[in-house]
Amino acid sequence: MWHLSALAAIAGCIVQPVAGAPQKSQEGTCKKTKVAILGGGVAGITAAQTLSNASVHDFAILEYRDTIGGRAWHKPFGKDKDGKPYIIEMGANWVQGLGNPGGPQNPIWVMAQEYGLKTHYSNYDNVSTYNQHGYSDYSDLLDAYEEAYSIASQRAGEILTQNLQDQTAKSGLALAGWNPKPHDMEAQAVDWWSWDFEDAYSPLESSLVFGCAGDNLTSNYFSDHDNFVLDQRGFNHIVKKQASSFLRENDPRLHLNTEVTNITYSDNGVTVYNKDGSCVEADYAICTFSLGVLQNDAVQFSPELPVWKQEAIQKFTMGTYTKIFFQFNETFWPEDTQYHLYADPVQRGWYPIWQSLSTPGFLPDSNIIFVTVTNEFAYRAERQSDEQTKKEAMEVLRKMFPEKDIPEPTAFMYPRWTSEPWSYGSYSNWPPSTSLEMHQNLRANTGRLWFAGEATSPTFFGFLHGAYFEGQDAGRQIAAIMHHHCVNANSTKLRECGPRKHYETLHGTSPYSDYTTLNGWAFSSFIDTNTD
Ligand SMILES: Cc1cc2nc3c(=O)[nH]c(=O)nc-3n(C[C@H](O)[C@H](O)[C@H](O)COP(=O)(O)OP(=O)(O)OC[C@H]3O[C@@H](n4cnc5c(N)ncnc54)[C@H](O)[C@@H]3O)c2cc1C
Ligand SMILES: *[C@@H]1O[C@H](CO)[C@@H](O)[C@H](O)[C@H]1NC(C)=O
Ligand SMILES: *[C@@H]1O[C@H](CO)[C@@H](O)[C@H](O)[C@H]1NC(C)=O
Ligand SMILES: *[C@@H]1O[C@H](CO)[C@@H](O)[C@H](O)[C@H]1NC(C)=O
Ligand SMILES: *[C@@H]1O[C@H](CO)[C@@H](O)[C@H](O)[C@H]1NC(C)=O
Ligand SMILES: *[C@@H]1O[C@H](CO)[C@@H](O)[C@H](O)[C@H]1NC(C)=O
Ligand SMILES: *[C@@H]1O[C@H](CO)[C@@H](O)[C@H](O)[C@H]1NC(C)=O
Repeated sequence: MWHLSALAAIAGCIVQPVAGAPQKSQEGTCKKTKVAILGGGVAGITAAQTLSNASVHDFAILEYRDTIGGRAWHKPFGKDKDGKPYIIEMGANWVQGLGNPGGPQNPIWVMAQEYGLKTHYSNYDNVSTYNQHGYSDYSDLLDAYEEAYSIASQRAGEILTQNLQDQTAKSGLALAGWNPKPHDMEAQAVDWWSWDFEDAYSPLESSLVFGCAGDNLTSNYFSDHDNFVLDQRGFNHIVKKQASSFLRENDPRLHLNTEVTNITYSDNGVTVYNKDGSCVEADYAICTFSLGVLQNDAVQFSPELPVWKQEAIQKFTMGTYTKIFFQFNETFWPEDTQYHLYADPVQRGWYPIWQSLSTPGFLPDSNIIFVTVTNEFAYRAERQSDEQTKKEAMEVLRKMFPEKDIPEPTAFMYPRWTSEPWSYGSYSNWPPSTSLEMHQNLRANTGRLWFAGEATSPTFFGFLHGAYFEGQDAGRQIAAIMHHHCVNANSTKLRECGPRKHYETLHGTSPYSDYTTLNGWAFSSFIDTNTD
């Protein structure tokens, strides 16, 4: 495998960057390529590999950072007994839904096995429960949740297949018998662990149908086994290995340290402008930037993206999932337990789940434990100093283990995902009352500009394998169009091929004529229906 330092050296070399050069490049001076792949995460690298597999070798990958892998991102942390730092994952950490023997296999798991990635089975039943007075066994609530969830998920399946209205996951769970009271903080902790820990959003902020469907698709289609990645080369080792199967060392098609700022698109091609003054003119482009990047207007599109696309971008939600790492000089928590769930007496989601890495099979003797917070509590941790966050979290640990004399950590670190300009958040989610049509608008191409990534996957959104399948699909579609395989609608190679469908207008279910006084609608006359 090649060295990233060598790759970094060839970065941003399309047009010699000139210090202070104006953004605008002269027409005709842009580097020309068939397919511009915007972003070198799992979706981008998989799209490139798919093109390569389809004998399309003329592509360029433009990546903001000095490495590929995107949100599969690690950092050194703390040190082992020889003084060497541990490698820990700031982003993606699990291979989720591995696959059963003989059944479909998660492609991320296939690569993990092929490239010898070190992982360990993550057992969510291996959890101890705590409140502000220390250990408190409320595991019966975990069973109560599970029972209700399976009813809610069945109901969600009926809603999907019978084309009924979606609802919040909270109402779906309540109807199925799980309705935690606002002041029952142990139930609130179980609610957080059972839903927010996966989706980053609460059940109130999530779609029942697509929350359950997404969970089903990964855990039933593949398997309900998740493995936690501990590889000291980092999770993105598999992405680098995947890339090295079609990119040679110093491959000029990979442009690291290249920040895309403007994208001009039409039915004839796409031109991409970068911060360093370079530009790329392509027949097609695949934009794999995160939903957060798109929502934050980090890239200017010309012409402006159509209204249906802009609406789709803003309708889906980008969650933030923050792991806060501690290393101590000793393991004072029960090291044979993988998860420790804390119910705070006042705030739901307050430093709720502590994961031991010092546990057999993980990073034994590392004395590393980390706590995960989501959304509001993640933003809070991002806004405040490391010191303040450490102080708050240490108070929680001292409540969980009142009998222990807990020393100050020897190392402490957490990422600020919402502030990363190449991600702006962690991963996407479907809010309540979404529809497949709404999502097709997120996924559809605008002219020759295609979109792929975790968020464009209707079935595996939020996951690495979602990014993989979407990169593969966009790559296949574009290769098929380029090879004129789409003119024959009977193509057996691809069931559906060609530009993706979008909806200019998404209709609701209530005709305006239903808004009558008989239906309790007293003020219909105030709405001006003459829009022009
Ligand atoms: C904290 C966290 C925990 C997660 N846990 C898991 C997990 O356990 N299991 C799992 O399956 N998934 C997990 N995920 C989700 C998973 O990481 C993503 O689904 C996946 O990495 C997305 O891949 P992608 O290619 O779609 O996007 P990305 O990985 O975001 O790739 C997009 C690329 O585009 C680049 N880019 C952005 N803006 C620009 C620009 N202007 N110019 C040039 N390049 C740009 C970025 O640098 C990036 O490399 C987690 C994510 C996070 C953040
Ligand atoms: C890129 O977008 C910015 C902000 O809208 C604009 O100022 C700049 O002129 C654009 N550059 C190009 C090359 O289009
Ligand atoms: C490309 O082809 C190789 C070799 O057959 C295969 O292992 C790989 O999975 C293919 N990649 C994609 C993204 O389909
Ligand atoms: C999820 O899977 C269960 C069990 O197979 C099924 O009953 C349910 O309808 C599915 N729900 C959704 C939303 O796919
Ligand atoms: C919990 O997981 C750890 C690490 O895999 C294991 O050593 C321990 O036996 C498990 N405990 C139970 C009760 O399954
Ligand atoms: C860890 O540090 C604390 C406080 O400095 C000390 O009391 C304790 O003995 C140390 N533990 C080990 C195993 O060295
Ligand atoms: C497509 O399939 C139909 C029926 O299978 C056949 O009649 C038709 O000729 C095919 N069209 C092309 C373009 O191959």
